[in-house]
Amino acid sequence: MRLAKRVNRISVSPTLAVLMEAEKLKARGVDVVDFGPGEPDFPTPEHIKQAAIEALRENRTKYTPTAGIAPLREAVCRWHARELGSAYEPAECIINVGGKHAIYNAVNALIEDGDEVIIPAPYWVSFPDIVRLAGGEPVFVSTEASEGFRARAQQIEQAITPRTRMVIINSPNNPTGAVIPPADFERIYEACRRRDIWLMTDECYSHFTYGAAKPYSIAGINGSKPHIIVIGSLSKTFAMTGWRVGYTLAPKPLIDAVNKLQSQSTSNPTSIAQYAALAALTGPMDSVPLMLAEYARRRTRILAGLRAIAGVTCSEPSGAFYAFPDVSARLADGSGDSTILARHLLERQHVAVVPGDAFGAPGFLRFSYATSIERIDEGLRRLEAFFSAAATAK
Ligand SMILES: Cc1ncc(COP(=O)(O)O)c(C=O)c1O
Repeated sequence: MRLAKRVNRISVSPTLAVLMEAEKLKARGVDVVDFGPGEPDFPTPEHIKQAAIEALRENRTKYTPTAGIAPLREAVCRWHARELGSAYEPAECIINVGGKHAIYNAVNALIEDGDEVIIPAPYWVSFPDIVRLAGGEPVFVSTEASEGFRARAQQIEQAITPRTRMVIINSPNNPTGAVIPPADFERIYEACRRRDIWLMTDECYSHFTYGAAKPYSIAGINGSKPHIIVIGSLSKTFAMTGWRVGYTLAPKPLIDAVNKLQSQSTSNPTSIAQYAALAALTGPMDSVPLMLAEYARRRTRILAGLRAIAGVTCSEPSGAFYAFPDVSARLADGSGDSTILARHLLERQHVAVVPGDAFGAPGFLRFSYATSIERIDEGLRRLEAFFSAAATAK
């Protein structure tokens, strides 16, 4: 079939591909320990679900304004100001169909053929493909496990060319869990401001930070608005992945452009999901520290388990809910690249992980610890069996 060239520039999200493989096994009744999903295993909090039920009962099931209902845009601005110190007006806010859609729209509103977009690697899988689809060229700058995968301003500055239009920063990071300290973030922002480049900040995991790391937004800096695009999502913070609600905070002309794109594609995000999101942002947030405490417990467990495997190293994630061990020392012994290793793990031990290649980091595996301690323990047992069998087969 003859497909448009732009479709051939991209591939199916590799994280979703692994999920599909694991799902097929599960459908056959196989007990898969699934470290694949990048989503909370907690249910959406009750008061949020009730708000959606209420919206249904009140027949709030019609089209809404493309940019989202006015109270929700207002609530996003207030919530972001309260939690992360920004100062946006509703006219500088649009509600999107998840954070991914927010990124997709903003990139499409700004990036043209040949424009370069700097993305620190390892990166979330969708950033480069969204840039490519828009005709842009992703330019990767590498970050090191030994430095906790923290992106540095100096490296980003060195990658800037006259064609650079945007830098995308994701902190806390998927897949590494790295959190950029505020001082480093400010240096990255300064580099962008000086060169008049957009800084897109993907804050989807903002509220999942451990130890000294705290929720932070570069948009809290006075006067930063002209260069910053905030991408937010309710998916992770409020365990609402399936509801598909995200948002963009940016200067009004960009919001208007995104609104235009959205008006000719998805129209408004689902009306009842918007009412649920309104309850999430204006209601109690006690579910967030409860989830965070549980993730913290799991993080400790999985880190210890992974580090106990001979030849595997793992830097401590400061945020999100992923561990990203370096398994490269175990690849040389005949198991191939980390994609092959991930496939063998799924086939032989029924453990689902995402290979690092998908994130621009061959030699690594991504483990989501958004799964119970019991399943983590079972997964670690299987990993131990897998790697000791690989060692004896040498
Ligand atoms: C870094 C990052 N950004 C954005 C998203 C998009 O999330 P959603 O579209 O569910 O809001 C994800 C989801 O996994 C992510 O990991």
